[in-house]
Amino acid sequence: MSQSQGVDPAKLAAARAAVAMVEDGMRLGLGTGSTAAIMVRELAARVAAEGLTLRCAATSRATAELAESLGLRIETLDQIGWLDLTIDGADEVDPHLHLVKGGGAAHLREKVVAAASDRMVVVADPAKVVETLGAFPLPVEVLEFGFETTRKLIRRALEAQDLGECDVLQRLRGSDPVITDEGNLILDLHLARIEDPVALARALSAIPGVVEHGLFLGMCDLAIIGREDGSVIEL
Ligand code: 5RP
Repeated sequence: MSQSQGVDPAKLAAARAAVAMVEDGMRLGLGTGSTAAIMVRELAARVAAEGLTLRCAATSRATAELAESLGLRIETLDQIGWLDLTIDGADEVDPHLHLVKGGGAAHLREKVVAAASDRMVVVADPAKVVETLGAFPLPVEVLEFGFETTRKLIRRALEAQDLGECDVLQRLRGSDPVITDEGNLILDLHLARIEDPVALARALSAIPGVVEHGLFLGMCDLAIIGREDGSVIEL
């Protein structure tokens, strides 16, 4: 297909293998990030070459803009209603197919879209495969209202439940706060290891100012890990 020059071969291999799963007539969720962007380009090339009819919802404004620039029509999730398949990237994948996502600050929409899909397939390079989640700082989308209070409540909940001590840092771009597509802020939890992802997810979801965290537990059905030589392994 169209793009191979200058593209990470492992990400490309994963993206191609996932796009090969797409069938005519499918309703698709399109993920966010550099690997998902490669996937969107591969998908657009397949649609152009084979004349597939698809219905697509995007997990971010950036993905919607990219897809539309390549001739893919994007509808809202509610216009489509339910999706057959979502293909997205991940920051970490563990042996249980638990994920950390949100490196691109899009995990809120990504989670909503994945939850409305029969299948979620992750496309990633080998650096994303870990034994234990947590080396990648865990993104948490929070309301601007009461931001500092929410940060305190997160620290307090982690300490109270012995979920690990960590720095809770606001994500910045330069000196400006990162603002998500939904107008919220991002806190990154530098935990190093997440021993109990289920307990952590529950604790974070119980804090009122937390809109959504980047732990995706029990949502991913398949992870396609591309390799430099163009082959893939499936987890
Ligand atoms: C965006 C995400 C991305 O899928 C994740 O950050 C992986 O991105 P990349 O493929 O660029 O490594 O969760 O919120």
